Amino acid sequence: MKSYQFGVDYYPEHWPKERWVTDAKMMRDMGIQIVRMAEFSWQKFEPREGEFHFEDLDEAIGILAKEGIDVILGTPTAAPPKWIIDLNPEIQPTDWHGHQRFFGSRHHDCQSNPAYRAHIRRFVTAFADHYAKNPAVVGWQVDNELGNSHGDLCYCDHCRDRFQGWLKDKYGAIDELNRAWGTAFWSQGYDDFSSIPAPKITAAWGVNPSHELDWKRFTSDLVCEFHQEQADILRAAAPEKWITHNLMGFSSKPSYYDLGEQLDFASHDQYPGGHFHARHDEYRADFHAAELDFIRAIKQKPFWVMEQQSGITGWDVLGRAPKPGQIPLWAMQSVAHGADTIVFFRWRSCAMGTEQYWHGILPHNGIPGRYHAEISAMMKQYTPLLKEIAGGVPNAEVAILRSYDQERAIGIQPHHPNHRYIQHLMTYYKALHRANIPVDFVGEMHDWSKYKVLIAPLQFLMTEEHLDKLRTYVERGGRLVVTWRSGIKDESNLCHTDGPVPVRFNALTGVTVDEYDCLRDCQGTVRWDGMDYKCSQWCDVLSASTAEPVAEYAHEFYAGTPAITRNQYGRGLTWYVGTTMGDGLADKFIAEICREAAIAPLMATPHGVEAVHRVKDDRTYLFLLNHNESVQTVDVSAEFTPWDGEPWTGEIGPLGVRVFVKG
Ligand code: GAL
Repeated sequence: MKSYQFGVDYYPEHWPKERWVTDAKMMRDMGIQIVRMAEFSWQKFEPREGEFHFEDLDEAIGILAKEGIDVILGTPTAAPPKWIIDLNPEIQPTDWHGHQRFFGSRHHDCQSNPAYRAHIRRFVTAFADHYAKNPAVVGWQVDNELGNSHGDLCYCDHCRDRFQGWLKDKYGAIDELNRAWGTAFWSQGYDDFSSIPAPKITAAWGVNPSHELDWKRFTSDLVCEFHQEQADILRAAAPEKWITHNLMGFSSKPSYYDLGEQLDFASHDQYPGGHFHARHDEYRADFHAAELDFIRAIKQKPFWVMEQQSGITGWDVLGRAPKPGQIPLWAMQSVAHGADTIVFFRWRSCAMGTEQYWHGILPHNGIPGRYHAEISAMMKQYTPLLKEIAGGVPNAEVAILRSYDQERAIGIQPHHPNHRYIQHLMTYYKALHRANIPVDFVGEMHDWSKYKVLIAPLQFLMTEEHLDKLRTYVERGGRLVVTWRSGIKDESNLCHTDGPVPVRFNALTGVTVDEYDCLRDCQGTVRWDGMDYKCSQWCDVLSASTAEPVAEYAHEFYAGTPAITRNQYGRGLTWYVGTTMGDGLADKFIAEICREAAIAPLMATPHGVEAVHRVKDDRTYLFLLNHNESVQTVDVSAEFTPWDGEPWTGEIGPLGVRVFVKG
């Protein structure tokens, strides 16, 4: 596969044709090698049913190809045109309240709707056939950010019917579903699959948690199947072209592990300064790092960023202006965590539509300004580096288990009002990040054997198969971390009743949970080696059988009982954490497990300076990323030399990047 380092998202249909040649030449001069186009342009390509007009796109591709720029085409199914909606208004999705949502933005579609699927098959077949032999088109993106734009996924009758079919395949007999969902509660028994509703808003707000969990699994499968249908058409027409998708970090509508199976490589959209965050003073580099590390987990290899922030962002309200140096810093953070290719969103700020203020490399007037200057300089400087490190990944000895199923179940019952699955994982990730300890994310299906430590928070739903895999990992010498709300339920979201919590986990953890306390509107204290640390949200009150208490609570009627334990099992051990740790406690905990597992941090850095590495063959590339707006002093080991040959003074400038190499 041909390699690319930098690209841009481009919407020629927003600009007069006379400008296209100028754009292509400017892109080439900057060092852009690849452009993504077309993912919202269905109406231009097919203004009436079966009448295809690819002439303009052909021309734009030709102009880019003349400058040596290749193209990724998005199938434009994220924005079905109005004539399709007029022909088949039922394509518009139905929300949780049972109300229809209407045309006028994008993703105004129900992904199970048969009429919509027929329109897609017709269009995508023509599109794929038309571009199959075009050598400038090197790959495809199906639709755009699947799982986005729908406030909630569709609850229409087609989706309900598909859900019923999915349930029938899963349970076979209605009695089995009634058992698995516990429908004896509140008189919810069903006589037939055909009477099961989509879980719309009920009189008491939500539905049976087992029903809701299956619905979430079904909608994930539906999105994957929606993608598959297009991917099959594209692959059949052009087997040598690759397929990727622009994923959205920790977004959880479809399982990216499942969707990833259909992709040649994963892509991701990275907007560190996005206008979505209310708190712009908050340090979020750790969260952005985590999302990148997670995207690397999907194919367990480097990925692309298909949309990297290139300017100030916003729709109706805006985020903060990226400060000088921050856009290159953010792009290089993506590279440091495993991106082989960075495609900036977008070439030019758009003069029309909802995203007028989601700025591009060029401002509305098309005259290069600061963003263009900074991005050009960064591309010139780092294109050779990206070529060199392509395929390299961090060498992580710690993994965090990110499970879509646990996230769904915890999302349905968070237990504490502020408890969120990803934030819980971030407690551990942030402590590792502060310590500059490389981390991989993994799923249930991955091989964990290479990791010295597996942090598996909230193993809430527990099947025999999953328990066996965790047990084997520990028996063979792994160090497992599990937390409160582990081993509680079966896979259909019913509580296990055949033993004390953490049911069936008792032997592995060496503890039982006698009772628990939900820390509503208050915090607790954990005492460890004579020091007091903050904890929150939840406290399991534990009895240790074979486990050794490591830290204890220092609050409430359970003061003096274990909060964190450690249990030898087979050749490995299991840590049990009965609460949500504050930052201080998490730092102490990570230091302790890493010391015990002989995992060394890459290096020590001041707060806000990330140290990240990628290993390619026998060379290690060390990235220092200074997210502070002040100069920082960093002690880099003498084994590393500056990659660019520029002398290292021991200081890294505000929002600066330095790369070093060893080997
Ligand atoms: C992404 C999306 C782009 C654009 C951008 C700015 O989520 O893929 O099409 O909408 O956000 O809002």
